[in-house]
Amino acid sequence: MPLVTSTEMFKKAYDGGYAIGAFNVNNMEIVQGIVEAANELHSPLILQASAGARKYAKNAYLIHLVQAALETSDIPIVLHLDHGADFDICKDCVDSGFTSVMIDASSKPFEENIAESKKVAEYAHDHGVVVEAELGTLAGIEDDVNVKDDKAMYTDPDQVEEFVKRTGVDSLAIAIGTSHGAYKFKPGTNPKLRLDILAEVAKRLPGFPIVLHGSSSVPQEYVKVINENGGALKDAIGVPEDQLREAAKGAVCKINIDSDLRLGMTAGIRKHMAEHPDHFDPRQYLGDGRANVKAIVAHKIRYVLGSEGKA
Ligand code: G3H
Ligand code: 13P
Ligand code: ZN
Repeated sequence: MPLVTSTEMFKKAYDGGYAIGAFNVNNMEIVQGIVEAANELHSPLILQASAGARKYAKNAYLIHLVQAALETSDIPIVLHLDHGADFDICKDCVDSGFTSVMIDASSKPFEENIAESKKVAEYAHDHGVVVEAELGTLAGIEDDVNVKDDKAMYTDPDQVEEFVKRTGVDSLAIAIGTSHGAYKFKPGTNPKLRLDILAEVAKRLPGFPIVLHGSSSVPQEYVKVINENGGALKDAIGVPEDQLREAAKGAVCKINIDSDLRLGMTAGIRKHMAEHPDHFDPRQYLGDGRANVKAIVAHKIRYVLGSEGKA
């Protein structure tokens, strides 16, 4: 099956009360772990690449890895640009075969965000590609944006209708308390997503797909394995999975997960190296990292996204 856009996927997810996992890819083992899990569970899938991933792996390698994924699976797959910082990177991805791009002008003033998002939407739509934009600012660290916690802003539901109407984008990422990275909330705290803001946004945009970034849950078992095997991660907890599940039952159709895969991959490699100090064949330790990526994605599909069997 060739790459698809997310249009049909989101429609079915919205109506069916589940969400599609958008997992970040940076190398072959990550692609394989994600795709094997989604394929075995017959789940639709979004593979997304950031500017950093395109720089690290090179765009052509990523595209061909995803092509290999299509040839070895029978599920619908979207190739999406994550956090496109400007028109040029979005155009480059549209021109090189991505089926979905994100323009992230969320750190800019409202009018500039609209102008930039509209320009990308017009170009992408002319080429059969769909567009995600963002309104509101998440805390955490992204490629080009470092937003301090106190600068993070929840999305204002009063702005969403105008934003979507004037830009023509196909989905909207909103800020309701998730944040990027592995250090999200202090241990012992009780993080609460603003599901009331989500409900308010959904009311203003009936049937329109909403996206949540920064949705890793920071599995403590992997943090423990990393720290028991030479790592030095700080204490932190992630987004509670039951709250993500709740959001997925409503207007949220796409949930972004990257940090959890990084933790799984690193835990697998560190444990392998600690247990087998004589090993130096990358297939051995990367294989264990890949197995963890697969297990995490399977868990998300079953218990967070609810997308099992929806391919
Ligand atoms: O939201 C950002 C993603 O986790 C991608 O991270 O820019 O380090 O590749 P990256
Ligand atoms: P996490 O850092 O929570 O995995 O978020 C990933 C993300 O939002 C990618 O765009
Ligand atoms: Zn993100």
